[in-house]
Amino acid sequence: MKITVIGGGNVGATVAHIITQKQLANELVIVDVVEGMPMGKALDMYESTPIEGSDTKVIGTNGYDETAGSDIVVITAGLARKPGMTREQLQETNAEIVKSVTESVVKKSPNAILIVVSNPLDVMSYVAYKVSGFPRERVMGMAGILDTARYRTFIAMELGISVKDIQALVLGGHGDSMVPLVSYTTISGVPITQFLDQATIERIVKRTRDGGIEIVNFLKTGSAYYAPAAAAVEMVEAVVKDKKRILPCSVLLNGEYGITGTFTGVPIMIGKKGVEKIIEVKLTPEEKAAFEKSASEVKANIGKLKL
Ligand code: LAC
Repeated sequence: MKITVIGGGNVGATVAHIITQKQLANELVIVDVVEGMPMGKALDMYESTPIEGSDTKVIGTNGYDETAGSDIVVITAGLARKPGMTREQLQETNAEIVKSVTESVVKKSPNAILIVVSNPLDVMSYVAYKVSGFPRERVMGMAGILDTARYRTFIAMELGISVKDIQALVLGGHGDSMVPLVSYTTISGVPITQFLDQATIERIVKRTRDGGIEIVNFLKTGSAYYAPAAAAVEMVEAVVKDKKRILPCSVLLNGEYGITGTFTGVPIMIGKKGVEKIIEVKLTPEEKAAFEKSASEVKANIGKLKL
């Protein structure tokens, strides 16, 4: 397995570090435009492998030659939010970055699976899909896993229980209109409504929607990266180990859920071929309306792209 991570910033470097620790690749390449930085971070990570007991060889570069023949490419390049900004305000700048990165990536790795992490997530996933010319099975965006992890964390905090026993699903675009599915939230199989009242659930749902900006407001100079990186690596691992995991990810819908031509978060089965199945779950009328609203917002933003 050869894996490339584009962008050596907080998210990219953390993704690379977790991949190295989990030894998910034989060869891992970190690409960044900043002179020296990816080489320094990669060498530092490589030097951690004798201690960590990992055989992943880590290489840093400012170019794309070293990325040739990658099986998976994780795209984290682009600007992060500052306090007061929406993810959508990054769209114009990051679309240019993701476009040029994708062009360079596909020249060297025409058979790769692309995992997009740059924001606004669903729109950037569409940019990578469009520019790469890859089939939709090989382009997916990371968001639902992160949003679901936040939702699960907040429920665990509220109840004082293990995060492990909370099963949940957050669908829709990775934006303020994302849709945590309360009807599918359970604690070891028991509906959440048996543990928490409606007002508390609504408060947790709102905190989940605002989960990204909550971190931005603390950090002030950038956005979250530990949880986003862990989420991206969960997708990488599902591909590397052909796990057939069922995880919420942003994919191009082609009629599923009655939606066409836009990326948005839905449960998919991930394995070595990438998106191996799109799973259509039944939604309550309110969830369905919220999901459609979220998807149509992404679609409107895709309409603003100048590719
Ligand atoms: C977040 C940003 C990275 O949700 O989208 O933290």
